[in-house]
Amino acid sequence: MESLQSIQGVSLTHNMMEDLARMTAPWPEGKIFVIFDENTFHHCWPLVRGFRPLNENRFVILKSGEANKSIDQVIRAWELLGTNEIDRSSMIINIGGGMLTDLGGFLASTIKRGVAFINIPTTLLAMVDASVGGKSGFNFRGLKNEIGVIREPQHVFIHLPFLRTLAPQEVLSGFAEMLKAGLIADRNLWNDLKGFDPEAWDEVRLSDLVWRSVLVKKRIVDADLHETGLRKALNFGHTIGHALESEALRRGNPVPHGYAVAWGMVFEAHLSGLRLGLSDGAIREITDVVNKFYGPVPAELIDSDLLISWMRSDKKNSDNQLNFTLLGDIGTCRVNCIATEEEIRSLLSR
Ligand SMILES: NC(=O)c1ccc[n+]([C@@H]2O[C@H](COP(=O)([O-])OP(=O)(O)OC[C@H]3O[C@@H](n4cnc5c(N)ncnc54)[C@H](O)[C@@H]3O)[C@@H](O)[C@H]2O)c1
Ligand SMILES: [Zn+2]
Repeated sequence: MESLQSIQGVSLTHNMMEDLARMTAPWPEGKIFVIFDENTFHHCWPLVRGFRPLNENRFVILKSGEANKSIDQVIRAWELLGTNEIDRSSMIINIGGGMLTDLGGFLASTIKRGVAFINIPTTLLAMVDASVGGKSGFNFRGLKNEIGVIREPQHVFIHLPFLRTLAPQEVLSGFAEMLKAGLIADRNLWNDLKGFDPEAWDEVRLSDLVWRSVLVKKRIVDADLHETGLRKALNFGHTIGHALESEALRRGNPVPHGYAVAWGMVFEAHLSGLRLGLSDGAIREITDVVNKFYGPVPAELIDSDLLISWMRSDKKNSDNQLNFTLLGDIGTCRVNCIATEEEIRSLLSR
C-alpha cells in the first residue's frame, strides 16, 4: 500500500490516485458509480479524476447543504443509479463532506439491497467523524438523521489536500470533533491539539492529528458498531450541543455543528465536575481552549426552557431522562450519565 497510515477499513494516503486505482481494480469501469455534491465535484474531483477513466453517465451530482440531505435527493439518486443500470456487483464511490457520505452511504446500502461503497471524505469533519463508523441516512420530518442504516464502507481514504479549498469555518467545525476525541479517549492527543493553530495550515502535523482522531473513533465503533454502549462516548458535548445547534437553526442563524459541540463540551465539562468530579483545572482548561477557537456561546442561544425542550426531543434521551457522556478526567469518559432538569438549568444560567 502507498498509504502513510492504514488500519482495517481506513487509510490516510498521500497518493489517492494509486490507492484508489488499486482498491477499485476488481470492478470494471462500467460498474463504478461516483456520487458528489456540486462543490466536491468542482473542487475535489479534479484531484482524483485521473485514477482511471470513468464514464460520467455514472456520476451523480447532488445539491449541497444540510437542507438537501433529504428524501427528494435520495429518490433522484435512486432514479439516476437505476437508469444507468447499477447492479448488485457495482461499487459506489462517495466524494464529499459528511452530508454527502451520509447520503451516499444510505444510497449504497439500499439500492439493490446494498452494493459496496468507498468513502472519500473531503471535509475535516467527515475525515475524523462522519465517513468512519458506518452510520448513514438523511433528515426527515424536520428531524436530523431520522431515517438511516448502519453499514460500513469497504474502505475510507483520507487525503488532506482536499481540505485546501474548504472554508476556514468548516475546518474549525471538524477540529471540534478532534478535540472531543482527545477529551474522551486520548489525553496526549488533546494536549497536542490545544497547541495547534488550524490557520497556520501545517499539513504534516494536521495529518498526524487527524489520524490519531480517526483511531479514537475507529476503536470505539469497532467495539460497539450498533451503539449499545461504548459508542455513546462519541456523544460528549452533543446533548447540549445538538440543542444549541437546533435553537440556532430555529432562530434562522445556523451555527456549524462543531461550534455547537464545542460550546456543548464546555457545559458538559461543568456537569462532569458536578457528577464525576472533573477537576476545576480541567474544566478551566477545556473552557479556555473552546473560547480560543470558537469564542463564547452566543448569549441569545442560552434559553434554558427552549434548550431543555430540544434535549427532550433528541433521540439520545429516553424515558424523559437527559442522557450524557461525561468526563472523569481529560482522556477518560463515562456513558449513560443522567442529569436532572434542575442541574441543567443551573448549568445554563451560570
Ligand atoms: N455518519 C456519522 O457518523 C456522522 C457523524 C458526524 C456528522 N455526520 C453528518 O455530517 C454532516 C456534516 O458534515 P460536514 O460538516 O462535512 O458538512 P457538508 O458535507 O455539508 O460540507 C460542508 C460544505 O463544504 C462543502 N465542501 C465539502 N468538501 C469541500 C472541499 N474539499 N472544498 C470545498 N468545499 C467543500 C460542501 O459542499 C458543503 O457546502 C451532517 O449531515 C451530519 O449529520 C455524520
Ligand atoms: Zn458531532
